[in-house]
Formats: sequence, C-alpha cells, structure tokens
Amino acid sequence: MTTSTSAPPFAPLSSAPAAGPRVPCIGVFDSGVGGLTVLKALREQLPGVPLHYVADTAHAPYGDRSSAYIVERSVRIAEHLRHLGARMAVVACNTATAHAVQAMRERWPDWPVVGIEPGVKPAVAATRNGRIGVMATTATIASRRFEQLVEAHARDVQLISQPCPGLVSLIEQGDLRSAELGDLIERYCAPLREAGVDTVLLGCTHYPLVQSRIQAALGEHVTLLNIEDAVARQARRVWEGLGIATSGDATVALESTGDPTPLQRLAREALGWSDVVATRAVT
Ligand code: DGL
Repeated sequence: MTTSTSAPPFAPLSSAPAAGPRVPCIGVFDSGVGGLTVLKALREQLPGVPLHYVADTAHAPYGDRSSAYIVERSVRIAEHLRHLGARMAVVACNTATAHAVQAMRERWPDWPVVGIEPGVKPAVAATRNGRIGVMATTATIASRRFEQLVEAHARDVQLISQPCPGLVSLIEQGDLRSAELGDLIERYCAPLREAGVDTVLLGCTHYPLVQSRIQAALGEHVTLLNIEDAVARQARRVWEGLGIATSGDATVALESTGDPTPLQRLAREALGWSDVVATRAVT
C-alpha cells in the first residue's frame, strides 16, 4: 500500500449545490464507477428518493492507498454530500467502509452512514465444502474490520483471501471486455480454483461489473456472492426511520471528481439509465 507522508493531492470538491433549494437525498459514494452497482439496488429499493452519487475518480483506486488517505477522501466527499442535502450516506465501497466508516460516524453521530462489507457470514452459510474465497482490494483485506469479520464468522471454514490489485483500475478504464482484464481475472481466480473453493465473495463493488467473466474463470459450479441488494434494503430501513417526506421527481445525480464521461457511459450502458448525465465535481 502507498504510505506517502507528503500531503496527498486532494482536489477540492465543489461545494456549491446546483441551482435551487436543497432537496433531501441519500448521498452515495465510491472511489469510482463500482458503486453504481449499489446505486442501482438503491434505486430499486427506494424509487421515490433522490440519490446523489459521487465517484472519486481523480483519486481511484483507494485499494492501494493508506488508511489515512482513504479516511481523508471519504470525509471530504461526505462533507460535500451533506452540503448538497444528503440526510444519510451509503458508502458504496468496501475499502472506504473498512477504513473510514468509523471516522465518519464519530464526526457526525446523528448522520446515518450505511456501509458495505464482504458478506462473510452469508458465505459461511452458503458453502457446501467449507472452502470460501474472498476477492477484494489489498486495503480491504489488510483492514482490521475485515480481520474482525473473519474472526467473528469464519472460524470453522477455510477462507482464502485474494487481493486483486489492478482490477479496479482496469474496470475504471471502461473496457469490460478487454483481454488485459481477462488475464488479470484469470491470475486472481486461479489460486481460488486450485484451492477448491465452492463459494466466492465479491468484496469490492467494482467486481460485479465483470461478474460473468469472474464466473467463467472460476467455473459454473462456484457460487458468487455479493451483497449490494442487502445493503440497499438496510439503507431503505434507515431512510424510512428518518421519516423524511419526499415528493415529486426522484432524481439521480452523478458526479465525478475526474472525467465524468466513463461514469456516465457505464450508467447508461450497464444500468440502462439512457438519459442520465454525469457532471464534474472538481472546481
Ligand atoms: N469499489 C471499491 C470497493 O468496493 C473499490 C476500491 C478501490 O478504489 O480500490 O472496495
């Protein structure tokens, strides 16, 4: 992991909301396009609630960064979302959840924050042969929170953690069919295949975007688990508990701290949101 001591090159986020009053919304963020998989599930669970998504593209991937860097970026984006009217946050990134969710909750104790973590518990329930694989970023696998999840739920199974450096960067480039991406997926799936796992957790929100390629590399007999839908259901419960009335059009706003084009293209192509527009969040 990068552990630079010099100040990270944080680009300032625009804190000016679009024209008009602040509409209560759910703020969602990820290091990049991966969180769109969570956003889609949120849209299905909460069709009447405005969603505001930030992809921190200019600073992706988070998975090779230090914990301090991930915390600083997450807090910066959360401040931006709060300014835009977000009444709660969904951290659509396993890496940011592992490193930053606690800092966010300590900073804003009355602001609900829902995170996403590798579904170790459901994987233990699903495995038939007691061998589970976890594909995630280097920073997620190195985190104390992941260690605690394994200690709490996976003591009686064999759990093989597979860090996947480089995978997020290639997915961010947008060519989900490239040979280079296929080679990297094969490199990370081979050890899991050889270990004979029958269940694999996709512990990064980018990976469901290439789920069919991971499935092909592991074999059809392997069950792939991701928990985007469960996170969206949890977010719905929290939102409903806030008792906020929403009316009118529930918009989905997309922002990127870098080039918004790949975010917009993927939202249109992979999610089928044909008229969605992504804008740049950097001033
Ligand atoms: N989608 C993020 C996650 O779930 C990717 C992290 C990264 O940028 O490396 O962990």
